[in-house]
Amino acid sequence: MYSKEEQRHLFDLSKKLLEAPEPSDFAAATDQSAQLRQTIVYHEWRYYALNDPVISDYEYDMLYKKLEGLENRFPELRSPESPTQRVSSDLTEDFATVEHLTPMLSLDNSYNAEDLKDFDERIKNYLGLPLDLEIEYCVEPKFDGGTIALVYENDQLIRAATRGNGQMGDEITPNIRTLRSVPLRAGFSETGIVKAELRGEAIIRKDVFEKMNEQRATDGLSLFANPRNAATGGLRTKDPSETASRRIEAFIYQLGYAETADGSNALDLLKTHDDTVELLSKIGFKVPLKKAGDGERKVCKNIAEAAEFCMHWQKKRDSYAYEIDGMVVKVNSFELQRRVGSTAHHPRWAIAFKFKAKQATTRLVHVDFQVGKVGSITPVAKLEPVQLAGVTVSSVSLHNEDFIRNKDIRLGDTVLVERAGDVIPYIVKPMEELRDGSEQEIQFPKNCPVCNSPLVRAEDEAAWRCENPDCEAQIIQRMIHHVSKNAMDIDGFGESQIEKFYRLGWLRSLADIYRLDYEQIAQLDGFGEKSAANLKAAIEKAKQNPIYRLLHSLSIHHLGIKASKILAAEIGHVLELKDWDEERFTRIHNIGKVLTHNVIRFFQNEKNVELLREMEELGVNMTQTEEDRPKTVSADAPLAGKTILFTGTLSRMGRKEAQAKAEAAGAKNISAVSGNLNILVAGEAAGSKLKKAQALGTVQILTEDEFLALIGE
Ligand code: IVH
Repeated sequence: MYSKEEQRHLFDLSKKLLEAPEPSDFAAATDQSAQLRQTIVYHEWRYYALNDPVISDYEYDMLYKKLEGLENRFPELRSPESPTQRVSSDLTEDFATVEHLTPMLSLDNSYNAEDLKDFDERIKNYLGLPLDLEIEYCVEPKFDGGTIALVYENDQLIRAATRGNGQMGDEITPNIRTLRSVPLRAGFSETGIVKAELRGEAIIRKDVFEKMNEQRATDGLSLFANPRNAATGGLRTKDPSETASRRIEAFIYQLGYAETADGSNALDLLKTHDDTVELLSKIGFKVPLKKAGDGERKVCKNIAEAAEFCMHWQKKRDSYAYEIDGMVVKVNSFELQRRVGSTAHHPRWAIAFKFKAKQATTRLVHVDFQVGKVGSITPVAKLEPVQLAGVTVSSVSLHNEDFIRNKDIRLGDTVLVERAGDVIPYIVKPMEELRDGSEQEIQFPKNCPVCNSPLVRAEDEAAWRCENPDCEAQIIQRMIHHVSKNAMDIDGFGESQIEKFYRLGWLRSLADIYRLDYEQIAQLDGFGEKSAANLKAAIEKAKQNPIYRLLHSLSIHHLGIKASKILAAEIGHVLELKDWDEERFTRIHNIGKVLTHNVIRFFQNEKNVELLREMEELGVNMTQTEEDRPKTVSADAPLAGKTILFTGTLSRMGRKEAQAKAEAAGAKNISAVSGNLNILVAGEAAGSKLKKAQALGTVQILTEDEFLALIGE
């Protein structure tokens, strides 16, 4: 339908139009509106026909609003073919088309309380009502799935269709009949209704979706991009058993049409939207529920209360079981709804309150390679800045080389970025169809970008590593870690101070932190007596830290806060560890092999022992006091006493790293799936072990992320 070149052109044009100023005259407005129409039609095709948009909903909405604005300014520009004059279409050629009993319209959009206030005022102005009058609104989630329309006649489901172009939809009755939340018979007749058309959204629970994709990975099938695609695709299959297997649910949110035996409009009998939804719920439909305190649906006494409910849901959207991309605010009274009516595109009595977009596309312009405290090299993508959920994002971690290769991310790619809730932004995928051939493979360096020593990658680790302990980047990173909150917790001492003092030659080793010259610091730009004194006080305080903090602050690979506490509980003085052999470590329940080797290697290095002695002389506490001795953690460690097995490819850490983490959290790694196994962590492309564990039914199966969450990372 569109060639690659056209797509690339339309994508670039869209981004340009989003930035473009208001045209100054009619000629310029004519040009710009033509371009807007062209790009909007393209994005509607990507969204509705391909189920694979290349720009965020928010960007689409902004293009749409721009066009609407121009057409309002110059009504001559409004043609019947303009996307503003109709509902966009998701009709396919695979099904018979049927006509809806009443047109299915779209929704106007709003983004903040101000927009909602304008919406409320527009209604009052339109109806000639005083502005201080309060209109009642019913507010409910805007479900992000596929729209459906269900027709019931004499209590029986006789037909189901997609929204299509708003007038006509694809007939998908056999598919819809497989959805358990859609009653095949419902008691409409008890209320006098003989024929009804219901509107709703077909949607898949987020956790069900995750499991389904895991299973698809195991079975070697392609993965669904998101629950919405899995649901809309599931509605449009030719095989109803495929629809059934996707565990789609249908939320009903509107009675679009209702006829009584004498042919009159039953909607006249029902007074409000809220009553109607309540009735539908009573006769067996799944609806957004009203609950005292904290429901999905709420009747609000005015627009301010409606706005508050929207904001409330914006905050909790990620913890909700279904994907929602906003809330819908509807005038509750049918009488008022009728009086205010609709445009060709949307009802004037309803508006979507759109949440801030979690996904956006932008260009990957450059990759930086950062050296971590234990020498791991992390590729970091530098992006053209984009707005994501209200925050500007200009760089995201690419984790490691496998991540880049598995996703086939290239320099110059347009990438889809997501930031959900408090999760760190990440790249979902490159937009392959927007490539123009100029994209380049990301070259992973062979040498450390800072000290130039050759990089090595251990067989079971995800990261390439710089093994030069004197690498400047590592030294600085180790110092940053040393002073950080979880380690020595030196207040007011952070990355920028460390870098500054390092450049001044004041910091070369961790010990130097404890022999800073505060008079010199007080002379520095941006410091002064007071902050120098504060820093001194914070460092003096840190010297008295319990020794588990010191152990964790040393940047020994895998020696996290939990393992540090376990070790600290076993010793009286930090330097005792230099005399420990492997057997002594493995006597401790939760300390694994990998960590043991790392600690032994650290204490075998004479330089490190010397460093600790120096620090002790400078007053850093190395001895365990009984009051500081951490409680034995084994009992409350998150995986205490559990057996665990990792299978498949992990994307956020290497296998050994994962095993070390599991051990530190109290688990024992075992190598086979049997009745003894408690937990299986399944990475990408997990195979027979996962199948076997599923068959056993006694094994707790976790994704990599669930595992990390469980151990508190
Ligand atoms: S009411 C005449 N309520 O959003 C207005 N729509 O962008 C009909 N949607 O195609 C829409 N949740 O599929 C309404 N609670 C809800 C909704 C909802 C999701 C969808 C609907 C429509 C789209 C409009």
